[in-house]
Amino acid sequence: MSTNTVEHNRRRYDFSGIESVWLFGYGSLIYKVDFPYLEQRPAMIRGWQRRFWQGSHDHRGTPEAPGRVATLVEKPGAVCKGMAFRVSPSVFEHLDVREKNGYLRFSTTLTFDDGSHAEGLVYIATEDNEAYLGHAPDAQIARQIASAAGPSGPNADYLLRLAESLRALGDDCPHTFAIESLVRSADSGDRSSG
Ligand code: BEZ
Repeated sequence: MSTNTVEHNRRRYDFSGIESVWLFGYGSLIYKVDFPYLEQRPAMIRGWQRRFWQGSHDHRGTPEAPGRVATLVEKPGAVCKGMAFRVSPSVFEHLDVREKNGYLRFSTTLTFDDGSHAEGLVYIATEDNEAYLGHAPDAQIARQIASAAGPSGPNADYLLRLAESLRALGDDCPHTFAIESLVRSADSGDRSSG
C-alpha cells in the first residue's frame, strides 16, 4: 500500500446521514486535539497494544531519517487505553490528511470508564504500508527517537508528551514507558557529559 492513505480513507466509510462518530485516540490525538469535538471521554479498546513501529517521514522525521511513532498491533487479551472523541464526520477530512503517512481508519468497539460501549473508528498503520518499520529492540527504538526530528518537531517530544498523557490517563503501557526511560537517560547522559 502506498504511504499516502488520504484516498484510501475517503473510500472506506460512507458517512452519509451520520451526525457524529466516536474516534479513539491512542497517540498524538490524546494531546494534540487540533479538531473540534462534541464530547470527550477516556476509553479503552481490547485486543490491541501500542507499539512504536510506524515510521514517520512527514511529522517526526524525514524520508532520509524517519522517526518512530505509535501504531496498534493485535494481541489477544491486550488493552490499550486512550481518549475517545465524538466528532462530526467532517473532522476526518482534516485528520485523514494529518495522519496520511500510512494510517487507515478501522472500526472497533470502545469501552468507556463506566463500562459502557460504543462503536468507533481508530487510525492504525498496518505492516503493509511502506512507512512501517516494525519491531526493534527498545534501545534501538529509543536511539532512533532521540535523534529524529521533522516538521512537527523532535521525535522525542512526541514520545515524552504521549508518555505524560498516558500517565495522566492512568494507563500502564510498559513499551512506551521503557522507551521513555531510555530516551530520558540518554538525554541526561548527553547533558552531564557535555
Ligand atoms: C492516535 O492518537 O490515535 C493517532 C495519532 C496519529 C496517527 C494515528 C493514531
